[in-house]
Amino acid sequence: MKFYTLKNDLNLPAIGLGTWKSEPGKVGNAVIEAIKAGYRHIDCAAVYGNEAEVGEALKTAFAQGLVEREDLWITSKLWNNAHESDKVLPALQKTLADLQLKYLDLYLIHWPVAFKADVGFASKADEFLSPEEAPIINTWKKMEEAYNKGLVKSIGVSNFSLKKLKDLLVDATHPPEVNQVELHPLLQQKELLEFCDTNSIILTGYSPLGSGDRSQDMKKEDEPSLLENKVITEIAKKHNCSPAQVLLAWHLSCGTAVIPKSTNPKRIKENLESYDVSLTNEDLLKIKSLDKGYRYVDAKFFEVPGGPYKNIYDE
Ligand code: A2P
Repeated sequence: MKFYTLKNDLNLPAIGLGTWKSEPGKVGNAVIEAIKAGYRHIDCAAVYGNEAEVGEALKTAFAQGLVEREDLWITSKLWNNAHESDKVLPALQKTLADLQLKYLDLYLIHWPVAFKADVGFASKADEFLSPEEAPIINTWKKMEEAYNKGLVKSIGVSNFSLKKLKDLLVDATHPPEVNQVELHPLLQQKELLEFCDTNSIILTGYSPLGSGDRSQDMKKEDEPSLLENKVITEIAKKHNCSPAQVLLAWHLSCGTAVIPKSTNPKRIKENLESYDVSLTNEDLLKIKSLDKGYRYVDAKFFEVPGGPYKNIYDE
């Protein structure tokens, strides 16, 4: 096991179980299998639509004595339709009720993008709230309130560009402990990582394996494969491990946390065993050369005609 100590002195387990795209009917079992395998970090979000099943699994795990609540790290995320000041705490309460928990270890603003309250996923300009209508700092103030009330032990953001993170740091009373972003050898986020290191913010990487199970409408043509990348498979062969383990071990060498998703017990275990893979400097140099700023999740779905988000990555 490896942990990162956050600014608030809490220890974030470096590898967590991702639950984005984990189907209802499967995610509960995945959580149980992960805990049995030794995971102590589960990454959730309201919008994944499976927190109630995760909650049932956690209840079972505690009842069976598989793990104690205080030994588990549970992250969840505030969805885009609850950014307005009066919506943040109710959204958190709903997540806590679904997960059957008294507190979260980490609560993140899922995207720096706001929807109107009754909109599940905005696809037209008038379904969004502009940054003027729902300033991120107002949402952040409510995250701070949740922290001060003890409902969450750490707070952070997700999908924040370097610029958005810098802006938030200017105004925040309690700076974010974590920024969760897409991160893998094709998108190494060097500048963002350096800034986060300097400011003691831990980066957590999502889609570390290339998120091959995204729905077809989220996929682009000719997406590059991470798991079949030649450099990665050659390094895997050399270490007698799987390509997924190379990709996850790379995160550990970068000092970033990582949340591979799997609902398959064998792969859940395999992913945690990445802790045992030690990449050499030569491996790391080869992987460094793979960076091409490639995003599997490019968030183009927020760039609607006449909408407030030209490009949420500020690129
Ligand atoms: P499954 O859930 O059937 O294991 P990401 O974490 O980048 O979103 O990737 C998730 C995808 O990668 C899922 O399709 C998941 O399938 C698959 N996956 C998870 N672990 C492994 C592994 N060790 N080897 C190959 N594929 C994996």
